[in-house]
Amino acid sequence: MNTSTTLPSENEQDQAGEAAGPCAMVIFGAAGDLTKRKLVPALFNLVKAKLVPQEFALLGVSADDLSQEAFRAQVTGFLPAEDRGSEAWRWFIERLHYERGNFGDVTTYQELASRLAELDRTQRTGGNYLFYLATAPKFFAAIVQQLGAANLSWQQAGSWRRVVIEKPFGQDLESARTLNRDIKRVLEEDQIYRIDHYLGKETVQNIMVFRFDNAIFEPIWNRRYIDHVQITNAETVGVETRGGYFDLAGSLRDMVPNHMMQLLSLTAMESPVSFQADAVRNEQAKVLRAVQPLDSEDVLTSTVRGQYGPGALGKESLAGYRQEPGVPPESRTETFVALRLNIDNWRWAGVPFYLRTGKRLARRHTEIIIQFKRTPFELFRNAPFHKLHTNTLVIQIQPAEGISLSFGAKIPGALLRVGSVNMSFEYSRYFGTEAYTGYEVLLYDCMIGDATLFQRTDMVEAGWSLVDPVLDVWKAVPPRRFPNYAAGTWGPKEAGELLRRDEREWRTIEP
Ligand code: BG6
Repeated sequence: MNTSTTLPSENEQDQAGEAAGPCAMVIFGAAGDLTKRKLVPALFNLVKAKLVPQEFALLGVSADDLSQEAFRAQVTGFLPAEDRGSEAWRWFIERLHYERGNFGDVTTYQELASRLAELDRTQRTGGNYLFYLATAPKFFAAIVQQLGAANLSWQQAGSWRRVVIEKPFGQDLESARTLNRDIKRVLEEDQIYRIDHYLGKETVQNIMVFRFDNAIFEPIWNRRYIDHVQITNAETVGVETRGGYFDLAGSLRDMVPNHMMQLLSLTAMESPVSFQADAVRNEQAKVLRAVQPLDSEDVLTSTVRGQYGPGALGKESLAGYRQEPGVPPESRTETFVALRLNIDNWRWAGVPFYLRTGKRLARRHTEIIIQFKRTPFELFRNAPFHKLHTNTLVIQIQPAEGISLSFGAKIPGALLRVGSVNMSFEYSRYFGTEAYTGYEVLLYDCMIGDATLFQRTDMVEAGWSLVDPVLDVWKAVPPRRFPNYAAGTWGPKEAGELLRRDEREWRTIEP
């Protein structure tokens, strides 16, 4: 695509943002991995972009016995070396506080309440509190209940209280419903920010802009022009140190009701009437409810599961899943899933959506493919060297971000030959590369109270409703042949067969 000269530069975009209003952020699980890898770096990027208010404080809570100085030193260690000692670092570090506590203990919350009241006085945080639950899921309901008991969730006139809840939100529909019910005893829906970090990714948000800010795609975005859609999330990593968690979850629970459903709903939803949180989420929820539920027969014919065995990626040899730390040697947990889904509405009737996600695949790559139909009449079918091509729109989400469209073109020369060429847009070429974690926009939105990029009760439950029947059948019919793909490959052969049966194939992902 051609560069538009009207694009604002990255700096202009940042300058357009306004700092959020006064608030204190409390991180439960302040010594944990998420705080280290995502929350602290993202907050610090917001500080550098001047989007965090002057009247700000961060209060870390964890069971570790740390002094305030030790906590500040620990957080400094989570920041890039070149930023330590900078003016932004000094600004940030002065606003860090620490509270040692036990998530189930009443006194922790009493102590927390008085620390927050003190920060309201010293840092003028205005009684606005953002509680971030970066803990194991078993603590979610208990923390919310304790916040309620300590009067910390109550929004008095002129101040707000919000709670951010990480995934996994439940392990199935029933547990997700129970968790929703428990937290809603204390919080109103608009105080709950259920996070899905895929919505923090630039290209994921760009799906909406691409679809709804360009008049040329909407008329062809339907069953008349689209043959099928593919959503691929391929990871090269295995389960790393998370074998214990992952073996109880598996790829289906870990990726499908949340990340994959977000990608599907943004691709398939109708245009919202505005960009207000509920307008967007109404449309996402609506399309998720329109996904045809899978009955037991469908689960057998339209789903594929896999588990990686030993293999290699380049020169590196890789252990099989069952040899990973924390994984039982006879584990039957899936590390790969492929699904064929149908959406029951006018736009999508008869257009299959193929989803696949897996660990230890050949390449790290997330993309959405819109595969358009062939021309109704093949005018050039007898042209020499003609190879059947179709129009494919590729929305690349990671690691490279961009959009490309392939179409047929005449190959130069005296003979009439038709080949496939690409128009492509790469984020990094137009906007430069950013060191962003993806959590920046999500944290900022929590501070300003914009819930558009967060999951509502009905969306979470719709995601689990789709996955539940698969979990049931898979439990009743254990996998016969695990492991069924070698680490470093594209997954089990059945995933290819799922599409071949429909005379289609997964797009080849080039290095
Ligand atoms: C997490 C899953 O939610 O998302 C992980 O629990 C997965 O298993 C990760 O690896 C993928 O995120 P990303 O941003 O690396 O694609």
